[in-house]
Amino acid sequence: MTATVVLGLAWGDEGKGRVCDALASDADYVSRYSGGNNAGHTVRVGREEFKLNLVPSGIVREDVVCTIGNGVVVNPEALAGEVQALEERGLSVRDRLKVDGRAHLIMPYHIALDSHREIALGEARIGTTNRGIGPAYEDKVARYGIRVQDISDEGILKTKLKAALREKNAIFENVYGEEPYDVGELASRLLEFEEFIAPMISDTGTLLREGLENRRKVLLEGGQATLLDNDHGTYPFVTSSNPTVGGAIVGSGIPTRYLEYVVGVTKAYTTRVGDGPMPTELFDETAETIREVGREYGTATGRSRRVGWLDLPAVKWAAALNGITHLAITLLDVLSAVEKINVCVGYEIDGERFDGYPMHQTDLHHARPVYRELPGWGEDITGCRMRVDLPREAREFVEFVEAEIGAPLCMISVGPEREQAIVERIAV
Ligand code: IMP
Repeated sequence: MTATVVLGLAWGDEGKGRVCDALASDADYVSRYSGGNNAGHTVRVGREEFKLNLVPSGIVREDVVCTIGNGVVVNPEALAGEVQALEERGLSVRDRLKVDGRAHLIMPYHIALDSHREIALGEARIGTTNRGIGPAYEDKVARYGIRVQDISDEGILKTKLKAALREKNAIFENVYGEEPYDVGELASRLLEFEEFIAPMISDTGTLLREGLENRRKVLLEGGQATLLDNDHGTYPFVTSSNPTVGGAIVGSGIPTRYLEYVVGVTKAYTTRVGDGPMPTELFDETAETIREVGREYGTATGRSRRVGWLDLPAVKWAAALNGITHLAITLLDVLSAVEKINVCVGYEIDGERFDGYPMHQTDLHHARPVYRELPGWGEDITGCRMRVDLPREAREFVEFVEAEIGAPLCMISVGPEREQAIVERIAV
């Protein structure tokens, strides 16, 4: 009766899907607790590659029940598309996927607002995924949200849509010069999904709690990551939910006493999509090499990712914030392509050395990385299955990161395939 959270320690795309897939071999439930189809999780099974935006990565294992928790925002069209695509590839999905009735829906007007706001921000844009995530969470907090359970009641749906659109339609007409949304049209569009979604609607918190009481194992799969957290991340260049460990509790509806393991995932380097500070960002040939070898293009949006060296103060801070019990390092094989490796061990901010992670956003914008140079290993490590198989320099790199972060490693990925990993301690 334990729950394990897998979450990212930087700005997302750390390979959480990959780590979850490894841990899911031993799990009964895999659950998403925050974000929506802004996430992009890739799982490789043999020759098959599954790219998942909303459905938990546990779906690729036929004996796992997957839940989309109350803390997630659900775009019904995206959900239907993803489920259908997975079923066309031979997976049974609808009988194993449960969607919490308390989760909020992403509506077409959320997506429109997301895009209008980004355009209006110009140079100061956040670089969102344009999936309507922020506006959907805004409505949730403002108590104008439409929830998954509302899809089954036309009367309630229309009443809520009317309330949600009262101010928004004025904005669409008067600020953006667009046609207002029609309550009836929106309601019929949503009702088309009723037949598809209704059988999956569930009280997923109760389902997980009952499972945990019956000694089942639950894996909570984070979307986005710690430095994109609305409270703790590089605000305002963040997402609108809490991917951190507290969000896992709120967004899945399970009590903290079940939570035994928190696995923090970091790449062997750093990437970021979207705007905002990234002190270790590189603009040289090394960045190009890492981007190409690491296929650093967004799963959700296809955008090219910003690339930089591992930012240890940031990752250490994220590890402490989440109280991680285990660490997973992904994409170590990508660093085989570079001769010398830098790891950021502190910053210089306005001429002064700073070893922690700055609280003040302005400091983060001014922070210049202080690097420790480590030798590269320059050889193929994709065949390594144990730490001792790694070349000495790769082992030293891993040991340095592990010691600095202060949590034991449970997994090192050395290639994109499911089996290309060094698995040391399975946490679940
Ligand atoms: P939003 O979540 O679409 O509102 O985007 C807010 C910020 O989070 C932007 O910088 C996005 O690029 C970033 N973001 C959102 N989801 C992900 C993800 O799954 N991986 C990496 N970055 C993400």
